[in-house]
Amino acid sequence: MSRLLVRDLAQVASPAGREAPLRGEALGAVEVIEDAYVLCVDGCIVAVGKMDDLRVLDGDVEEIDGRGRCAVPGLVDCHTHACFAGDRVEEFSLRAGGATYEELHAAGGGILSTVRATRAAGESALHEAVERHRGWMRAHGTTTFEAKSGYGLDRDTELRSLRAIRSGGGIPTWLGAHAVPPESDDADAYLDFALADVLPEASKLAEAADVFLERGAFDTAQARRYLEACKEAGLVLRLHGDQFTEAGAIPLAVELGARSVDHLEATSHQGIEAMAASNVTAVLLPASALFLDRPMPPARALVNAGAAIALATDFNPGSAFTESLPLVCSLACTQLKLSPAEALTACTLNAAHVLGRANTKGRIAPGYDADLLLLDVPDWRYLAYHLAGDLGITPFVAGQPALP
Ligand code: NIG
Ligand code: FE
Repeated sequence: MSRLLVRDLAQVASPAGREAPLRGEALGAVEVIEDAYVLCVDGCIVAVGKMDDLRVLDGDVEEIDGRGRCAVPGLVDCHTHACFAGDRVEEFSLRAGGATYEELHAAGGGILSTVRATRAAGESALHEAVERHRGWMRAHGTTTFEAKSGYGLDRDTELRSLRAIRSGGGIPTWLGAHAVPPESDDADAYLDFALADVLPEASKLAEAADVFLERGAFDTAQARRYLEACKEAGLVLRLHGDQFTEAGAIPLAVELGARSVDHLEATSHQGIEAMAASNVTAVLLPASALFLDRPMPPARALVNAGAAIALATDFNPGSAFTESLPLVCSLACTQLKLSPAEALTACTLNAAHVLGRANTKGRIAPGYDADLLLLDVPDWRYLAYHLAGDLGITPFVAGQPALP
């Protein structure tokens, strides 16, 4: 039996209660214990409380002095595109000069330029890329991450990507409908191929399927066809929706019982109401809106209406080249008008819910995995407050120090 005691912490902050996802007022109900300890046994949290209530422990216990530090749950990034080769720094410079993301995409750049680089990379190069990106994420406090394929769009590269994500420590999502590759005549012909030739294997490697429902990518009828086939194959459903235009992602997600719609920068009042009345989680990606200089998603209205929300980075080389969830928390407070407590719940417990792991990830509470961060800060809200700052993060995964 291995035991870890983190003692004398200035604060332990965790989403309160036992339910997930948390919505409405409960989203901001973070429980803060001052002068606290966390006790872990064999990679699991077994007790959390005030130092005054800590009983004497017999036998071997590894102790960590938490004085002057705060503990929060390990962050959960539920939306990344961490499996890619190459970069888009040229495109970034062109955008700085006035070109738009959609124009570059329509001209065969954007996503398709990363497809060319990713197809040219072998399996070990992709595995190394995911591991490198996991190291970057860990340094910013992410202890669980999802990653999508979608830069292969041929059978071999899609399956290679899903395997690299799993072997690199991520939770794989098959983004088989990300863009139409140059060798396909049109989106329907591409989907014929993807569903017949890739889905049977992809459904064994991935936990979820995702589609980019957008002008210039896949329309509602095509997204429906793709998602229905993926559901039939046992995959959880997710959609990139309402990023540039409101093209029917939310009604489709609600109808098909999807787990999430992600982006929502273009969502109207009607869409907000439909999300609030559903079990679909809105995954908000403010770093992507910032990176592309697009409108921010209507986070406050979604929360006030009662929708479940999560926050994620959207880490990818084109529209959000950042792996930092603390930065996303800062943007959530300054741009989305969420409180630090709402932001914390949205990138821990509610993000774990999107990944089907809210029973084990996203809380510092007995029964949860001992994935936690020690922050070298006097108040846990520095997580959002210290914009792009050094939080002195020491991550633990399953009770073990997990620095890259
Ligand atoms: O979530 N919008 C579609 N897909 C990604 C971007 C991928 C890329 O530009 O490489 C997104 O923003
Ligand atoms: Fe994305």
